[in-house]
Amino acid sequence: MPVDVLLGLQWGDEGKGKIVDVLTPEYSVVARFQGGPNAGHTLEFEGRKHVLHTIPSGIFREGIVNIVGNGVVIDPVTLQKEMSALVSRNVDVNKGLDISRKAHIIIPTHRMLDAASEAQKGKEKIGSTLRGIGPTYMDKTGRNGLRVGDLEARDFRERYEKLRNKHLELLKQMESPADPREDEVAFFDAVNEMRKLNFVDSEHLVNRQIQEKKKILAEGAQGSLLDIDFGSYPFVTSSNTITASACTGLGVAPRHIGRVYGIFKAYCTRVGSGPFPTELENETGEAIRKAGNEFGATTGRPRRCGWLDLPALKYAIMINGVTDLIMTKPDVLSGFETIRVCTHYHTEGNVIDFMPFDMVHRSIEPVYEDIPGWHQALTGVISESEFPKAFSDYIAYVERATAVPISIVSVGPDRKQTIRRTGKIMQAV
Ligand code: IMP
Repeated sequence: MPVDVLLGLQWGDEGKGKIVDVLTPEYSVVARFQGGPNAGHTLEFEGRKHVLHTIPSGIFREGIVNIVGNGVVIDPVTLQKEMSALVSRNVDVNKGLDISRKAHIIIPTHRMLDAASEAQKGKEKIGSTLRGIGPTYMDKTGRNGLRVGDLEARDFRERYEKLRNKHLELLKQMESPADPREDEVAFFDAVNEMRKLNFVDSEHLVNRQIQEKKKILAEGAQGSLLDIDFGSYPFVTSSNTITASACTGLGVAPRHIGRVYGIFKAYCTRVGSGPFPTELENETGEAIRKAGNEFGATTGRPRRCGWLDLPALKYAIMINGVTDLIMTKPDVLSGFETIRVCTHYHTEGNVIDFMPFDMVHRSIEPVYEDIPGWHQALTGVISESEFPKAFSDYIAYVERATAVPISIVSVGPDRKQTIRRTGKIMQAV
């Protein structure tokens, strides 16, 4: 049975948590493969909202195995808070959660290094979530990191202190006044709690599940345009966020990858700094932010908003090998007379239809096509036959432009506000 992958095609916040939750009944296993508590996956059902940062979004469904894979970085303190919130909602976390021994651990000084690095960058700051993600992946690739399996070693404290002292030296050089002593107390409390969890050699577990023909869904975090290699570098996160990362972040061979679900918003958002060609710094952008409640699930920061960017979307589809598109939040666009879609970029006297190498130091002007909007609200729609014609035309337009079928449309945050489509690319009208 192949491993299906579900990931974001823009700059994150596309609505991955909700869609994983909707798809989970079709799967036996849900596995996170990269990122860490910089993610905020929001799920809504039975009138309640839940935000997950580290734990896979399959945790709310009975009988699902949830795996935090080796590619993830874990902050024990955030994990503990997340688990307490779940326990208070009667979710039996211990039963359905396995954590890879090879996942790396975020320690308090990683967060301090993140803050010091951003402060040093001044105007060029990345706009990091400051969860210590970058420094932890740096220690991983620098071969200094601490892993979940190290928590089982008797000398974990010494290993921790060695790394912390290295960080303190760096912080001194960066003229940071950071002092981790207070945070260390919470960290070690959380570490003790974490030791009660089920640590596994997740690559063996996942491959056993594949052999046993169990269906596995790999849940991506952040978005393809934040990928360390293919995103808008240097304004990116520190992990690979694309399909290939499901292989390295879980120990799954490429031949086992099946469907690739690519999620995109009917418009675009970005939180943090960096290029965003279709950004609307005007009342239209403000209207989208308000209607879409575009504020970060992890940091609460207002998200930058803009129109759909086809060159960027097509690039993400290519890199990920997307087989199915999932459109989220078109309900936010109800009421706009005209909807604009960026089809090309105008840059340095040329018109191009792809993302150029340098998006930071050159001006990129979007070239738009205007599409008629729809006035009807979409939030109460329960089948495709109820879509306003202009919205069906918008869907058909995106399918033609990308040559990938849109198989799910999400018209609101609740599980129930999800419409499955036949998945056939609609022909030109
Ligand atoms: P970091 O991964 O926290 O270092 O942040 C690097 C960049 O990625 C910043 O622009 C963040 O705002 C952005 N980012 C990181 N995680 C997410 C996410 O889950 N959703 C949206 N943006 C994110």
